[in-house]
Amino acid sequence: MIEQGGIVESEANRNAVIAVTMATSRQGMGVVKELCKTNKYHIRAITRNIKSSTALELQSLNNVEIVQGDLLDPESLKKAFKGADAIFGNTTPTKGWKLFRGSIVRSYEMEQGFNLINQVKNEYEKGKLKHFIFSSISKAKDPLKNDPAPGHFSSKWDIEQYIEKLNLNKITTILRPVSYFENFENKIPGYTISKKIFPGIIGENFKWQTIAVEDIGKWVRGVLSKPDKYKNQSIDIAGEELTGLEMARTLQRIVSSEGHKANYLMIPRIAIKFLEYDIGVMADWIERSGYGADMNKLKAIQNELNIVPTSLKDWLKVKLEKQNKTQKSWSSQWKASQWKLQWDK
Ligand SMILES: NC(=O)c1ccc[n+]([C@@H]2O[C@H](COP(=O)([O-])OP(=O)(O)OC[C@H]3O[C@@H](n4cnc5c(N)ncnc54)[C@H](OP(=O)(O)O)[C@@H]3O)[C@@H](O)[C@H]2O)c1
Repeated sequence: MIEQGGIVESEANRNAVIAVTMATSRQGMGVVKELCKTNKYHIRAITRNIKSSTALELQSLNNVEIVQGDLLDPESLKKAFKGADAIFGNTTPTKGWKLFRGSIVRSYEMEQGFNLINQVKNEYEKGKLKHFIFSSISKAKDPLKNDPAPGHFSSKWDIEQYIEKLNLNKITTILRPVSYFENFENKIPGYTISKKIFPGIIGENFKWQTIAVEDIGKWVRGVLSKPDKYKNQSIDIAGEELTGLEMARTLQRIVSSEGHKANYLMIPRIAIKFLEYDIGVMADWIERSGYGADMNKLKAIQNELNIVPTSLKDWLKVKLEKQNKTQKSWSSQWKASQWKLQWDK
């Protein structure tokens, strides 16, 4: 028997408990939203701040319980993981921006990773935890060209090694996502995505693997549905493999009917290194090594796990639709305020 929120349920009838770390992150939100759609799980969404607007948004979803937890505080993780059947683990290198450093701090992510893996081990030894999914980051196709790797990549691969060191591979699936589509929504003036600009950090002719952040949730749902097959496996996951020019052409095909011309605009590397040094190192690394997702192999696994990847085209259509609505709403609010001003005169 287990007790949840005062309700005592029998083990056989209850939904499996999935603990999701960093639930309010872009990735965490994608995972929680996808899992709650299945109606198969009780999802423990872990956040440092249970009162934030994002935590409250998650709380309004079916089958979701918000739980306080900090990856820097092992005791809080111990409580948050207690009795979980599966854990989705993610870590962040983002500590807060500083001049000449940016916001990425490798040691910050390592500390979270070691705490996370230690508590996964602790929960596994209690006998209930059956499956751990660690979200890492994609590796290179050609590991020999892999050096120097960005700090926030090395930290994740070191955490992968720690999983192995603690002999947890047998219960672990490592998902390694490539760059999110959502990065194209950066706020750098002059480099924000629009009907005329497709911004990127990579030279226009390099192949660049990318994924919609919500698709990471689909992958988690997929591997959770076939744990025995996907434990002890690492999968580099991507939705698209296009050059900057090809991405801009995808945008062009959507906006051409409105008479727009879309161009690929590369953010100068020197500006990236100034704003966020490690992302500049990452851009060098992607051009030199490339991510390691095997797009053909992925197709077969996606079919098996019932994953329909979001295409860049569909993602762009939704984003442009939203931009249109916001602009219309701004313009109607502006017109209404003008009308009010005239009326007030
Ligand atoms: N951007 C990409 O293209 C990309 C691609 C592949 C992998 N990744 C990796 O994916 C990971 C997540 O990135 P994201 O962009 O999805 O995250 P995000 O949206 O920037 O969110 C970061 C989250 O981390 C949580 N957090 C911060 N410090 C924490 C701590 N000490 N303990 C627990 N939670 C903490 C915060 O939640 P609360 O304040 O609510 O606790 C926040 O929701 C990163 O490691 C990133 O490197 C990113």
